This record gives sequence, structure tokens and C-alpha cells, in this order.
Amino acid sequence: MGMLLYSLLALVAGVTSVLACSCGYSHPQDTFCSVDFVFLGWLRSNVKETEPNGSMTKKYEVTIRKVFKARPNDFGFNENMTVGILYTASHDSLCGVEFLEKRVKFLFTGSYVDSQLNIDICTTIGSYGQGPMPWAWVSKMQRKYLNRIYRENCECVVFDTSPYAYNSPHSSNSTCKWDSRGDHSECYERQTACIKDRKSHLGDCKWHNNPKMKACKQTKSSGFLEP
Ligand SMILES: *[C@@H]1O[C@H](CO)[C@@H](O)[C@H](O)[C@H]1NC(C)=O
Ligand SMILES: *[C@@H]1O[C@H](CO)[C@@H](O)[C@H](O)[C@H]1NC(C)=O
Ligand SMILES: *[C@@H]1O[C@H](CO)[C@@H](O)[C@H](O)[C@H]1NC(C)=O
Repeated sequence: MGMLLYSLLALVAGVTSVLACSCGYSHPQDTFCSVDFVFLGWLRSNVKETEPNGSMTKKYEVTIRKVFKARPNDFGFNENMTVGILYTASHDSLCGVEFLEKRVKFLFTGSYVDSQLNIDICTTIGSYGQGPMPWAWVSKMQRKYLNRIYRENCECVVFDTSPYAYNSPHSSNSTCKWDSRGDHSECYERQTACIKDRKSHLGDCKWHNNPKMKACKQTKSSGFLEP
């Protein structure tokens, strides 16, 4: 993800004094396809600080309501889990999730690190650089896509045409174009998904056409915070 890229760049450049967290932006579908796990859940117990062999990490125990993605693994995390422990760096300058509000449902996304579930403020669906996305902000269309459509269309890659884009290095001949800084960027983020075009014999992909998307594009900024 974006975070990794920036951290690596900083290391290569010898920047060791101040290593601020900087996130790359990606479309929710690309995030879904690239992460190891995605689930709906909430904070269960108080944050515990742990110090496994020197590296400061924070630990959140969460209740899991629904698992949308659990990449196969050998440490037993699967789609039937009801409780999980999330690990994160202890500080937000290291992209750690410093704080999780109680009694708020979040869409947690992250990766497996040393047989643990790891989260950071960059690897999120839609809440750029701010940690897990509150479930209340996940649009109706996104909830639908999370159930099946994103997963079934991971061959389709969203290509960000913005000059500030961070596009994943694996290129694909089947992309949907998205300007993450453009007028309708939130509509593309919240109201549609990049899906295989059944009419195409070349395996092309296209944006999913639906009434919510149409309505969103008609009113330039209505995509945000709309169910
Ligand atoms: C610390 O390192 C030791 C030895 O490498 C290992 O057995 C132990 O599990 C580690 N502890 C944690 C909390 O990671
Ligand atoms: C999860 O639960 C379903 C339904 O009980 C079951 O069919 C499936 O095998 C379970 N998956 C795992 C990984 O345990
Ligand atoms: C990409 O192009 C190749 C060769 O032209 C084609 O076989 C394939 O179906 C296309 N689509 C995808 C999703 O790879």
C-alpha cells in the first residue's frame, strides 16, 4: 500500500529523524482487493499497550460482526470469527491507529503481519489517512459491493489519472479510470465499482452503472455522507 512505499522511500533517502506517516490514496475496491482482511466490528476492550521485544505496539480487542474478506492463512483467522485482536503502531507518526472510539462500528481493513492482524491509518476503505472507516459513513452501494462485487472483480483495477496518483505497480489491461482529485471522485468512490464487462470478449472492465451513481454525478458534491 501507499504507506509502505513512503516508508521505504524515507528509509532509502536516509531520513531517520522525523518519519512522518504519509498515505497514498486508493479506491475502496483496490484497497479491498489488496488487503488481507476486511470486517465490520467495534472496540470491545480497552487499549492495551504491549512491548513485544522493544517495538511499541498497541492492541485493540474487537468484536467482529461480519467478515467480508479473510485471505487464507495458517494462524486460524477466518470468516466465522467473532472476536479479534488488532495490532497497530503505537503512534500516528508511524501510521498507527492511536485512538478508536467506543461503541462505534468500524470497517476494519488491514494486513497479516507475523500471524497477527495489523491495522494502520492508511490502509482503509475511504477514510484517507484517518484510520478505520466508521460504518455509518459506508454508503449503501459500498455495503453491497463489500458483500460480493469487490471480491469478484479484483482483476479489474482502478487507475487513478490524477497527477498525484499512487497506482499499484501491477498494471492491467482492464482498468477503470478514476480521477481521485476530480469533480466526481467521491461518486466513483462511494457509488460504483469497477466490474467485468460481460459484453466484452477481451475481458474489459467498466464502471458499474446504477441509479445512485447517476444521481451522484448529477449533483456534483452529493456523494459525500450520503447513504
Ligand atoms: C520476543 O522474542 C522471543 C525470542 O525471539 C520470542 O520467543 C517471543 O515470542 C517474543 N515476544 C513477543 C511478545 O513477540
Ligand atoms: C464457517 O461457518 C460455515 C457455516 O457454519 C461453515 O460452512 C464454514 O466451513 C466455516 N468456515 C471456517 C473456515 O470454519
Ligand atoms: C487482457 O489482454 C489479454 C491479451 O490481449 C486477454 O487475453 C485478457 O483476457 C485481457 N483481460 C484481462 C482481464 O486480463
